[in-house]
Amino acid sequence: MRILVTGGTGYIGSHTAVELLNAGHEVVIFDNLSNSDIEVVDKIKKITGKSLVFYYADMLDKPALDKIFDQEPIDCVIHFAGLKAVGESVKNPYLYYHNNIVGTLNLIEAMQTHGVTNMIFSSSATVYGTPKSVPIDETFEKGQCVNPYGWTKSMIEQILTDIQRANAWNVVLLRYFNPIGAHPSGLIGEKPNGVPNNLMPYITQVAIGERKELGVFGNDYDTPDGTGIRDYIHVVDLANAHVCALKKIGDRSGLSVYNIGTGKGYSVLEVIRNFEKVNGIPIPYSIRPRREGDLASYYANADKAKRELGWQPKYGIEDMVRDSWNFQQMQGRSVSSEQDS
Ligand code: NAD
Ligand code: UD1
Repeated sequence: MRILVTGGTGYIGSHTAVELLNAGHEVVIFDNLSNSDIEVVDKIKKITGKSLVFYYADMLDKPALDKIFDQEPIDCVIHFAGLKAVGESVKNPYLYYHNNIVGTLNLIEAMQTHGVTNMIFSSSATVYGTPKSVPIDETFEKGQCVNPYGWTKSMIEQILTDIQRANAWNVVLLRYFNPIGAHPSGLIGEKPNGVPNNLMPYITQVAIGERKELGVFGNDYDTPDGTGIRDYIHVVDLANAHVCALKKIGDRSGLSVYNIGTGKGYSVLEVIRNFEKVNGIPIPYSIRPRREGDLASYYANADKAKRELGWQPKYGIEDMVRDSWNFQQMQGRSVSSEQDS
C-alpha cells in the first residue's frame, strides 16, 4: 500500500515509517518540522535502504494538503501530526485545539476531496480518564481528560467515529500507553524540547550528566513500592502495531479501537533499577511530591490487538532501557540545556 504518514519525522512516525518500508509498503511523509528534524528522512532511508517521499507541509495549510493528495495516490493515512506536550497544552489550550483539531479537520477534508477513506489515528490511553480499574480494556467508557492535550485526542476520536459512520470510512483508533525506547540502530529516537516531562527521557538525561537527579513523583501510592505504575511499550513494537492495523483497513472493517501496550506495568523504581542494571549506570533520585493529575496505576489489557491484529510486542523492559540509553549516547549532551534540580 502507499501510505501517507502525517508527522512522519516525529518520534513514533519515523519508527513507523521504518517498519512500513521494511514490510514492503511505500511511504509519503508530510511534517512541518515543528518538533522534528529534516535529517530524520535520511536516517529512515539509511536504516531501511529504501526511498520515500517527503513534503515540508503544515496541516493547517489546506492548499498544501490538497497539493500532496493531487500528486500522490494514497491508500491509507496514518495520522501522527499533532502537538503533544501536556504542560504546554494547559498553558496554551488554543494552540492545541487549533493545531490538533483544525489540522485534523483539514486533513479529513483533503481526504474527502480526493476519495481517500482509510485512516489510522494516534490516540492515547489518556482518553480513558480515571478508569474504574486496571487493566484497562477497550470496553471501558472514555472518561474526563485531565488536560487540553488529552481532550484533543478524545475529540478527534469522536470526529473520526462520526465521519466513519456517515461516509463508510475505515478507521482504526490506536490508544497508545507509554512509548519509550528507540530504534536499535540509535539513529532515530525521541528528542524532547527543554526539560523532559516524561520519565524515560529524564532518566537518560540524568545518566548522561545533563541533569543532576531524577525527581520521583510520589512514593505513597497504593502500589507495591509506592511509586506510579505504567505500561511502557517499545516504540518499535508500537510502530509494528500500525503495520498490523493496515490489515484491518484492508478488510474494510469500519471502526476499530485498540489499546497498544504490553499489558504489564512497571513502577518508577522498577524502571530505574532496570536502567541501572542493564546499562551499568547509577541514577541518583529523590522522592518528590506527587505530580498533579497522575494516577497510581495505568496499564492495558492489550488482548484485543493480539487477537484481532495478530500483533505481539517483542521487546521487554531491558530492551527499552538499553535502546533509550543507546539513542541518548548517540545524541550526546545538549550544550544548550540548563541544569535543573
Ligand atoms: P512528535 O512530536 O515526535 O511527532 C509529531 C510530529 O508532528 C512532529 O514531527 C511535528 O513536527 C509534527 N507536527 C505537529 N503539528 C503539525 C502540523 N500542524 N502540521 C504538520 N506536522 C505537524 O510526537 P510523537 O511522540 O511521535 O507522537 C505522535 C502522535 O502520537 C501524536 O499525535 C501524539 O499525540 C500521539 N501520542 C504520543 C504519545 C507519546 O507518549 N509519545 C502517547 C500517546 C499518543
Ligand atoms: C504522561 C501524560 C499523558 C501522556 C503521556 C505520554 C501527564 C499527567 N500525563 O503520562 O497525558 O499521554 O505522558 O506522553 O503528564 N515520573 C517521575 N518523575 C519524572 C517523570 C515521571 O516520577 O520526572 C513518573 C510519573 O509520576 C509516572 C511515571 O513516571 O508515574 C510515568 O510518567 P510519564 O512518563 O510522564 O507518563 P504518564 O504520566 O503516564
